[in-house]
This record gives sequence, C-alpha cells and structure tokens, in this order.
Amino acid sequence: MLILGIDTSCDDTSASVVENGTKIISNIISSQSEIHKKYGGIVPELASRRHIEMIWPVVNEALKIASVRLENLSGVAVCHGPGLIGSLLVGCSFAKAVCYSKQLPLLAVNHLEGHIFSSFLEGSKPSFPFIALIVSGGHTCLYRVDGFGKYKELGRTRDDAAGEAYDKVSKLLGLGYPGGPVIEKLAQDGNPKAIDFPRAYLPESLDFSFSGLKTAVLNFSKSEVRSQKSNAEFRILNSALINDIAASFQASIVDVLVRKTEWAIKKERIKRVTLTGGVASNSELRKKMKKMGKEKEVEIFIPSISLCTDNAAMIAAAGYHYLKTKNIAGLDLNPKACLPL
Ligand code: KG4
Ligand code: ZN
Repeated sequence: MLILGIDTSCDDTSASVVENGTKIISNIISSQSEIHKKYGGIVPELASRRHIEMIWPVVNEALKIASVRLENLSGVAVCHGPGLIGSLLVGCSFAKAVCYSKQLPLLAVNHLEGHIFSSFLEGSKPSFPFIALIVSGGHTCLYRVDGFGKYKELGRTRDDAAGEAYDKVSKLLGLGYPGGPVIEKLAQDGNPKAIDFPRAYLPESLDFSFSGLKTAVLNFSKSEVRSQKSNAEFRILNSALINDIAASFQASIVDVLVRKTEWAIKKERIKRVTLTGGVASNSELRKKMKKMGKEKEVEIFIPSISLCTDNAAMIAAAGYHYLKTKNIAGLDLNPKACLPL
C-alpha cells in the first residue's frame, strides 16, 4: 500500500510517500523558519499563505521522487489537527480535492498520533504496549500505547510545552527562533550546574509544567543585568553567562522529561519507550534518555532527527493503519485546532 502523507499543521509544508506504513519512499519538508524568524515566533496568517504557495510544489516533488502518480496511490493521509487552523485548512482542503478527483480514500490523522508512529519508519520498531513521550513546540505528553487507536494519556503539560519553553527563553534572551537548536548549541559551551533553575516534578503526577522555569530564567537574567548597573537588554550579558543560562535551563528540562518517563515506566510496568517530537532532536535529551534506558533495562526508541520534527512520513505511517482498518474519512472532514488523541 502506497500512502501519500500531508502535514501542514504548523510552519512546515510536508508531503511524503510511504509504503506499508514503514518504508519511506520520499519525504519532502519545506520549512518556513526564514519567514517567521524576524517575528521571534510563528505568525499564523503568514504560515497559511506560505502553505498555499508550497503545497503543490511539495506534493509534486514527493510524488516525483517516489516515481508515483496520484492514481497509483492507495490513499491520502492528512493531518487534521491539532495545529494552527489556517495552516491545517490548506492541507485538508488539498487532500480532499485529490481524493475527490482521483477517487482515493481520505485518511484523517491526528498530529500526535503521527508523532507516535514516526517510531515505525526506521530500523527496529517498538512492539506494543509502549510508553510514548511526545515533546514538541505545541505538546508535551506521555501516553501508554497498546496498539493502533489505543492511546491512554498518562500526563501532559499544564502550561507551556517543552519546545515552547525553549522558544520563549530564546526570544527573551534575544537569541532567535526556533529556540531549541540555538539553545542546544550555546549549551554545549556552558555549565549545566552553573545556575540552579527549578524543576517542577509535581509529585504524584505525570503532568509537566515549564512556565515557572521560563520565569526563573527571566528573573535571573533581569537580576544579572541589574547587577551590571545597566538598563540595557539581556544582550549585554556576556556570552559565557548566556552559555551557562542555556545549559542550566536545558538541564532542568531534560531532567524533568527523563524523570517523568521513568515514573511512567514504573507505573505502567512497561519496558519500552518512544521519544518523538521536535524536542526529541535535542542531543542532550537523546543521550540522557538512552542512559536511563540502559540503567533501567528499558528499550528506548528515538527516530532520526529529520523524523522528530514535523514531517509527513509520520502522517502516512499512521494513515496506513486507518486504511487497513477501513477507517475512511468523509469529504466533509473539517480540521480542528484542538483535537484530543
Ligand atoms: O514537532 P515540531 O517540529 O513541531 C510541533 O509539533 O510543535 O517541534 C518544534 C519544536 C520547537 O519548539 C523547537 O524549538 C523544538 O521543537 N526543537 C528543539 C530542537 N529542535 C527543535 N528543542 C530542543 N532542542 C532541539 N535541538
Ligand atoms: Zn509536531
């Protein structure tokens, strides 16, 4: 079965052809970060307009690389939420038009489900049940996954997502967007123990909270600026201190994510974990999660970096199961900004 996947949930236009839910034939991603960079975050209106410009070139390229024509596809899987509504509308409308004109089954995939299924696109694949930690710009949640369509939420963030915290801290320090890769790079030259930023463990709960950490970084930076008797912006902070802030902030995020995953393993008595979503491309998090896996004898599955951030291959991978179980969406499909899994 050859499935065309489409994801336009946020600021990347992506299309991919995947065979039998596991083999990537093509995976094209057109990033918009150059457009949103100067605003320090995503501007939804600009994102939708760019999706409209890019959707056909990106789909066309994915088909060309896979040497497939629309009529040879088994189905079209599209992300219908959660995400930015204007962005989702572009992908959904496009997918519906293709399915209508070529008489193909339409497969409606939840974005989070897509992130979970990104673990099935390479090398060794997790067997069910497993614990799924999804860490992205919009979400930070833990699920118990018992099979396709069998997801039990164990915890989620009560405020900011981990990626959102990276982006906001980067913005307040004047470091640019997206924050994750910039902070990760600066952290490499910093001391993770230099500043004792808080870790919100929320005892007895598998929920997360990162907004206090963001405020702690803001307050610390303000007091440093004040101590230098300047009312200038944080940009005056010397680069060694910025590196220490980045490393200490990252250490706090990584510690909480790994510790909570450990709690979930214990609670559910499951010795398999998948780590997915944009923040899963962070090398410190990947390293610490693998270390924990080794110590606790837990199998850890982390996709390649290009499959952690948003991509359409993961949508096609999940879409395959919708087709297999004959769970076909109608052409009246409407995307939803908030869509629980
Ligand atoms: O999964 P994704 O591409 O989009 C959403 O579904 O949100 O995740 C994007 C998020 C952004 O917040 C970005 O700052 C973060 O992932 N991110 C990272 C890294 N690369 C991207 N965070 C930490 N370290 C990274 N290397
Ligand atoms: Zn995502």
